[in-house]
Amino acid sequence: MKRFRQYRLDAPTRDRYADVSVAIDDFIYPYFVVEGNNIKDEIASMPGIFRFSIDTLIADVKETYSLGINKILLFGVIPDEQKDERGTQAYQPDALVCRAVKAIKEAVPQICVMTDVCLCEYTSHGHCGLLCNHDVENDTTLPLLAQMALVHAQAGADFVAPSAMMDGQIEALHNILVANGLRDKCKIMAYSAKYASAFYGPFRDAAASAPSFGDRKTYQMDFRTHNQGIEEIAADIEEGADWTMVKPAMPYLDIIARGVEKFPNTPMVAYQVSGEYSMLKAAAKLGYLDEQRTVFESLIAIKRAGAKYIITYFAKQYAQGI
Ligand code: PBG
Repeated sequence: MKRFRQYRLDAPTRDRYADVSVAIDDFIYPYFVVEGNNIKDEIASMPGIFRFSIDTLIADVKETYSLGINKILLFGVIPDEQKDERGTQAYQPDALVCRAVKAIKEAVPQICVMTDVCLCEYTSHGHCGLLCNHDVENDTTLPLLAQMALVHAQAGADFVAPSAMMDGQIEALHNILVANGLRDKCKIMAYSAKYASAFYGPFRDAAASAPSFGDRKTYQMDFRTHNQGIEEIAADIEEGADWTMVKPAMPYLDIIARGVEKFPNTPMVAYQVSGEYSMLKAAAKLGYLDEQRTVFESLIAIKRAGAKYIITYFAKQYAQGI
């Protein structure tokens, strides 16, 4: 008989045998930014997460940074009246996200600012690219995503994070950054294996970005596949991604683990998405689960699978010890 219980004798012994830990430095904290002033609007399905106008965002980012969280991911949320077929507001030099990036870089220059690059928050139809015959057209969307990344980089973003799941999007972003002399300054965090997941539900409330018809299954990945996620990661690295990502996180730990095993030299990011957050929050609120312990366990599981960084709405509360 092998005596395993010797490893579990007491807390110090368990600590000594623990292989995995979570550090504040692992976190990337997402933010939703809206137009206006003095806005801090809680998202109904994501308690503790808010839409901020730039002024209130700055105050919150300062607090976040003071807690040791040194990476944030920005999403712009614009009024419906400003949306159009081509997502024009996404790629203007004075776009909402560009103004937010500049303001953050001025107030907290040390924080790493990452920006989501996708048209779904900016198009009147809510899809991630240009439509043609009621489907998203890949190749005509690429220059718009590239332009969006360029204006973010010019505003001072440290990373651009393309999430539209268009083929060739990493190469398009890489090329435009190179052509404008910004490639060394601005890195690419690729949403590589992004599945067409129902776990994004609360995010679509938060960002008002649900498609007005159909779904995203013609561009986001089918979760019944085995190897496509690994091929997507390989293609993104080939096209120039600095970091890759698997999204969502907890239901896709197998993909994280296999991606890290296959590409150990490219940092892997896992996105613990809105639905993963809301699910734990809701269960905790009902008294069905212990929030602090389940959050810790979920983060450890993601790290154990091999992720280097975790995008998580829990970052701030974890750093606050609550
Ligand atoms: C698209 C985007 C989405 C998320 C991040 N970027 C929504 C989608 O693809 O449908 C989801 C994030 C989350 O659920 O927390 N711009």
